[in-house]
Amino acid sequence: MRLGDVDRERREYVLRDPRTPVKWINYIGTREFGGFVDHTGGALICRDDPTYNRITRYILQLPASDFKGETLYLRIPTLGGFHCFSPFFVPTLEPLEFFECRFGLGYMRIISEHLGLRTEVMIFVPRGETCELRDVSVTNISASEIKVDLVPLVEYSHPDAMQQFTNADWLPQTMQSRAIHDSEYTLLVQYPFMTRETRINYFTSNHPASSFETDRKLFLGDNEYGGYRTPLSLQQPALPNSQANRGDNVAALLHELGTLKPGESRRVILQLGQCEHIETARAQIDRFRKPENVDRALEELHDFWDEYLSAIKVTTPDEAMNTMLNLFNPYQCYVTKTWSRYLSYYQPGLGARGIGYRDSMQDVMSVFAFMPGESKEFIRTLLSFQKRDGSAMHQFNPLTMIGSEGDSLEMEDRPHTYGDDHLWGVLAGTSYLKETGDLSFLEEVIPFYDQSRSEERLESVSIIEHFRRALAYTRDNCGTHGLPLLGFADWNDTVNLPDGAESLFIANLYGKALLEIIELCEHLGDNASADGYRQDYDSMKARVEAVAWDGSWYLRYFDEQGTPIGSSANTHGRIWLNAQTWPVISGFASPERGRQALDAAYEHLNTRYGLKLSTPGYDGYDPRLGGVSTYPPGAKENGGIFLHPNPWAMIAEAILGNGERAYQYYAQINPLSHNDRIEIYECEPFVYAQNILGNEHPQHGLARNSWLTGTASWCYLAATQWILGIRPGYGGLYIDPCLPPDWEGFKVRRKFRGSSFEIEVHNPEHVSSGVQRLALDGEILKDNLVPLIQPEGDHRVEVWLGS
Ligand code: GLC
Repeated sequence: MRLGDVDRERREYVLRDPRTPVKWINYIGTREFGGFVDHTGGALICRDDPTYNRITRYILQLPASDFKGETLYLRIPTLGGFHCFSPFFVPTLEPLEFFECRFGLGYMRIISEHLGLRTEVMIFVPRGETCELRDVSVTNISASEIKVDLVPLVEYSHPDAMQQFTNADWLPQTMQSRAIHDSEYTLLVQYPFMTRETRINYFTSNHPASSFETDRKLFLGDNEYGGYRTPLSLQQPALPNSQANRGDNVAALLHELGTLKPGESRRVILQLGQCEHIETARAQIDRFRKPENVDRALEELHDFWDEYLSAIKVTTPDEAMNTMLNLFNPYQCYVTKTWSRYLSYYQPGLGARGIGYRDSMQDVMSVFAFMPGESKEFIRTLLSFQKRDGSAMHQFNPLTMIGSEGDSLEMEDRPHTYGDDHLWGVLAGTSYLKETGDLSFLEEVIPFYDQSRSEERLESVSIIEHFRRALAYTRDNCGTHGLPLLGFADWNDTVNLPDGAESLFIANLYGKALLEIIELCEHLGDNASADGYRQDYDSMKARVEAVAWDGSWYLRYFDEQGTPIGSSANTHGRIWLNAQTWPVISGFASPERGRQALDAAYEHLNTRYGLKLSTPGYDGYDPRLGGVSTYPPGAKENGGIFLHPNPWAMIAEAILGNGERAYQYYAQINPLSHNDRIEIYECEPFVYAQNILGNEHPQHGLARNSWLTGTASWCYLAATQWILGIRPGYGGLYIDPCLPPDWEGFKVRRKFRGSSFEIEVHNPEHVSSGVQRLALDGEILKDNLVPLIQPEGDHRVEVWLGS
């Protein structure tokens, strides 16, 4: 079953049926103001923080057919009253004659036709503004005149999103709305009483409203025994015009569009915003009442994305890969960088998560070429959640800037530090330096998170010292085999063993971080440090090679008693994907063991929808293992196809030169490959999902937790830097592809350190890897490094692969 297609020219995915198996969403705005919009026009909007400043009420758990946050009604007078329907399908559920939802870059466009009316709604947040616009056009496409009214509706959340669910006494007493006559328009303002003078939401339009309503009870009617599907107030000529003094607040404006002749249109611009005081928003409100300003804001949004996406463009023989790498994948990377794991259709933004240290450090790695300035700022912020001992807080809340230990706090008897978080900072920081060459960044001073009683930070050090502390923490926190302690968990959040357990994942992540710091120190000419880190590297490598090889593959953990997990001796969890890929990435595995380990992963873990995280899944809850065993076999981290580690398998295969398999792993999880089997896959087929049910599960192939996943960042890196092999380095750009041999070649246009490179790779001998010749602006160079060019400008790089 296929529900839509990519429109490459417009850079949109076009969905043609509102009845998707699960809601599909898109993002608008930024964390400063924005959120997500679903394909039936529902929206979860917040400012700065979804937990502490939420604007619309969007309850994920309600059925797909229910009203969520915002909608739009149209009504046409009939003999006895009015015929009402929603051009978004939800919540009236009246079948529409035509429906399209276009998922664009930073906007959603919903177009539908029904009863002779064509409605087009463009939903977006203008760049840098604190309001959502819904630019609505209603056109009479019939042969006769139609009289029509337009009624948009918003339902507010209390800003404290958790309290909205937990407090039904204090909270409804505080919610208030007021209507302001603003020349010919109506401006509805809404606030909890305590922020009346400091922070208010507003809703307005650029069309006179003949009436309005702000109390949900009156809008739905009959003490709410009228529902969103057929609000009783919409059967009256006018809305009740009441200003809510308490209760569930909504904002509804009745716009009488009058009689539309055939072919005639009306355009109404709706604005939902937040400000300190209405006067501070005056300019914004007036500006976006003018259609030409809305058009300009939309153009600015398009221009932003033109510029953004122009950083890297690829042309490969695989169209679906091109569409992902030139459009949806960098877009998803931007979204994950913005929202971390905080707000999505699966992450309700209710405070349990916030911005993740580990997650965000990985997200930012894929956007350096696109947004170096913001990325740098973000790394600074993240590093300020590292602690003096080198470890890091697991997550933080962006509005309060309070860090937390995350889920580890739920288990009293387990450590409250994650064994891996801090190391990701070294990977992110060094890749930022390789992309930008901005070495002065290393000298910037950033505080550690440790605070005095008066909340003053206790110590601030340079960024390079932050890296050193991170590495020292892992070096100094090892267990009985000399391997790094797991802490509460490593990358796999759900294996939570008692204190004393050791993690092979962390050992390898540490190895990779050491390789990076060694390269950095060498580049800086600090050979003494490089030598010291090389010793640490060799020593950890020796320990891994001495104790972690199980015979045919690598082990994943030692529990606190020294018993291996991820061994052929186990009945469940015998082999784990990350245990095989990371020894190759860290360089700890010899080529022979590395090959054997990756082949074992292929043999035991690969499915047509991607590689499973482990197998077989645990079959029953085991409190000693923790979270992993709360899932049935085949789901999520318990033997599911967890997508985030799949690109690590692509990278590992590329490191060992198997271009065929690296590409197979890429292509089999390309979201576009699911477009024709939505009945199985269910999620948006243009962004990566976090997980797909594995083949031990009866619903093998079903995806969940789309959008906010490290899969986006790592697939982008695996494809561009390892399969296409265009890799930034301190001294220039390395060209080191690892392709399926049947490819004739590919092209990449890439900006790097102020220059623009037109790279063309030829593969006349049909090999996987090996650069035989490289020409820069026609001149043959001696190796596969395109050095830094002075002066900056446009350059042409031609590369021939061969043996
Ligand atoms: C989720 C978490 C991430 C973790 C992964 C595996 O995606 O956000 O931090 O690494 O699960 O458990």
